[in-house]
Amino acid sequence: MVQAFLLKETSFLDKFSFPVPYAAGKMQKSLRILYLGDIVGKPARKFLGERLPHIREVNNIDLVIANGENATSGAGINLKSIRELKAARVDIITLGDHVLDRDFCTEADEVQDLGKVCMPCNLESKINCPKFVTCEIGGIKVGVCIVLGRQFMKLQASCPFKKFDEMFAKYGNSVDIFTVEIHAEVTSEKIACGWYADGKASLIVGSHTHVQTADDCILPHGTAYITDLGMCGAHRSVIGRDISSVLESFINGTRCKLAIAEEDLRLNGCIVDFDPTTKHPKKISRFVHLA
Ligand SMILES: [Fe+2]
Ligand SMILES: [Fe+2]
Repeated sequence: MVQAFLLKETSFLDKFSFPVPYAAGKMQKSLRILYLGDIVGKPARKFLGERLPHIREVNNIDLVIANGENATSGAGINLKSIRELKAARVDIITLGDHVLDRDFCTEADEVQDLGKVCMPCNLESKINCPKFVTCEIGGIKVGVCIVLGRQFMKLQASCPFKKFDEMFAKYGNSVDIFTVEIHAEVTSEKIACGWYADGKASLIVGSHTHVQTADDCILPHGTAYITDLGMCGAHRSVIGRDISSVLESFINGTRCKLAIAEEDLRLNGCIVDFDPTTKHPKKISRFVHLA
């Protein structure tokens, strides 16, 4: 029987909660999350705006989470981009190591927009943005947090493993589905995070390297996992940037402006199905959408 789900907000602490419409006309066989990798620049934002509403509809997606750390000119995100992603029907935007590249908090005249944005929880900053975002879909509470890795990363983040323990102890019992994004350079750090949180987190996804990995799986203790979601942006590029600019930079050792590439746009991420009764992940699949 097709059922309409009424949504309600959960309490506000140092987290942000908001309602998400349940996928229209869907049988409640599973709760389906589409988690997208780093959105790189204006071409990706535009492509997402054109395609995501239809993708949501045909795939019965209930919730879209996407990393927006590269959404504005490839480095950070501003309010204009946040609003564009919101209009494209991204529900929750996570950030990463580029969060401090752009002081979007000074433009924060609409706190509601920032409420959709999730800061890395193991990074100290003055940005007034939640580090744990929840939403409720058909009575199922989903919580989202992101941790930065520490290997070969420029920012001084605290230990992602200890921070995960802290966040899980604080919020684990308040949600049915606890998702963790590990935004890290080193594959081994992300894989280690997966093993560490298996059986506690519902879903662990890696981001930052912009290249999708083929290791999507359900770990032995029931956590859905992928080492890297990949990227939303131009794939005829070097991780979203213009090929010739990057080659010049590498070969000559010079720092030059790396233009955002525009050809062969794709959306990368994963789709995860959760059992609405047990709230456990049933299936995780890599997601690739071509232009
Ligand atoms: Fe990053
Ligand atoms: Fe990135």
